[in-house]
Amino acid sequence: MSNESQDVAIAIPTKQFFVSMLTRDISLADAILDLVDNCLDGALRSAHGGQVDYSSYFVKITLNAEFFSIEDNCGGIPREVAKNYAFKMGREPDDNRDSENETIGMYGVGMKRAIFKMGRGAKVSTLYQDDAFEVSITSDWLDNKDWEPIPIRDADASSRLQESGTAILVDTLYPGVAKHFTNDAFKNELKTAIAEHFTMFLQRGLSISVNGQVIEPIHVEVLVSEEVNGPAPYVFEKTIDGVLVSITVGLNTGRGLASDDDEAPDFERDRSAITAGWTVFCNDRAVIVGDKSRLTGWGDSIPLYHYQFSIITGIVEFRSKLAEKLPVTTTKRALDTSSDIWLQALVKMKEGMRVWIDYTNTWKNHPRSEQTQHWEKAKSLPLRDAIELVSKREKAQKIVGIIEFNPKKQHVIPIPPTQKPSSRRIVFSRPIEQIKMVSKSLFDTYDEQPGVVGDKCFEIVLLEASKLEETGNE
Ligand SMILES: Nc1ncnc2c1ncn2[C@@H]1O[C@H](COP(=O)(O)OP(=O)(O)O)[C@@H](O)[C@H]1O
Ligand SMILES: [Mg+2]
Repeated sequence: MSNESQDVAIAIPTKQFFVSMLTRDISLADAILDLVDNCLDGALRSAHGGQVDYSSYFVKITLNAEFFSIEDNCGGIPREVAKNYAFKMGREPDDNRDSENETIGMYGVGMKRAIFKMGRGAKVSTLYQDDAFEVSITSDWLDNKDWEPIPIRDADASSRLQESGTAILVDTLYPGVAKHFTNDAFKNELKTAIAEHFTMFLQRGLSISVNGQVIEPIHVEVLVSEEVNGPAPYVFEKTIDGVLVSITVGLNTGRGLASDDDEAPDFERDRSAITAGWTVFCNDRAVIVGDKSRLTGWGDSIPLYHYQFSIITGIVEFRSKLAEKLPVTTTKRALDTSSDIWLQALVKMKEGMRVWIDYTNTWKNHPRSEQTQHWEKAKSLPLRDAIELVSKREKAQKIVGIIEFNPKKQHVIPIPPTQKPSSRRIVFSRPIEQIKMVSKSLFDTYDEQPGVVGDKCFEIVLLEASKLEETGNE
């Protein structure tokens, strides 16, 4: 009989498993975003809890058929971190370096996953303070069944980085990856993803370039009037389970709905359509931008998104020093919708959305000029500035730790003149040929909506009548 107590079963993960599992569920673009996230985490750590001046940092990405590289000046990797954490697959429970920082790295896989998604080896060079060293992950290491430690080599004078920072080079690209890197559609997808995901950092001055092209941020903003009784977005802010949840919903344009005869340039219309819907930030990274699906509540006890709502923009932000509490998946570009914090936020998001859906319904069939005048003094602001401005209003509710402002309850939502309490409805029918004729003479198009044509007629006569009244009174 064998001695059972001496037999042991091997229970370590294989490299093959790690590499194929890790890289399967992430897109190539998202894997690259993970590397940029590391640069930002680096900048944040360099500030030691102080304010980060993002305009002093750069991230340069180069990609082509031969290689991928990313270089930054975001502080570099301390040798102790390289020895004990950075090249491990997964974070150790004792790794509590970031308890004081709103970093986004949490699983300890991003860098390795990005490298193995692209190729079979990489060189990571870094300069931390005056310590310059390199770590090369080779395909031999990958093929070797054992989890051998990877050598750390001092950088020689020629390869030493000039500034504190990190450079990662992947020069053994998989053929499919090399193909993507020469494809314009992929490069545009990556640039858009960067413009969206890192918009807050780009707006604060961070420079990110892809093949020499500097990426411009996209602006997700809502309109807020500076007048105390002027129109303002819905606002809600509360700390839930260690996460600061901030929500605002409002209009992205005071011009009303864009129509075909609109004088607004195309790009302006496109921009409002992109940022319409919901944008979700987690510790300043945009996880989703302009979502118009059920995910963010559309079609779930409120109407499905459609063109009428393209002037509505909602922004939610989750902030925490405990990155694992954020409702975000490991790819950082998808929401963890089962999280309780997300579900609580969704209730408030819908409450705010309802206000503006009603607004678009109320203004349907009213001339755009009447709507525009209410918004002339409104500023287009990102989430934080919008909340700050609204919370200055006396009517904003501030019970310990909660800010809440519902523009409908506070009666600051613009109402068409015809819906004032003293208003009466005028309804009449005319042959369509006549309506078209009047439409052409008033709007230079045969196809203005009958309600708008009738309304304009009344407006013209009203103006005449009020002039007569004035001269009569003199
Ligand atoms: N560009 C960089 N600048 C500074 N530190 C970096 C950089 N890239 C990687 N690191 C270090 O490597 C570690 C591992 O990175 P990663 O695999 O993405 O996991 P995580 O970000 O979840 O910790 C980071 O925690 C960080 O200490
Ligand atoms: Mg990371």
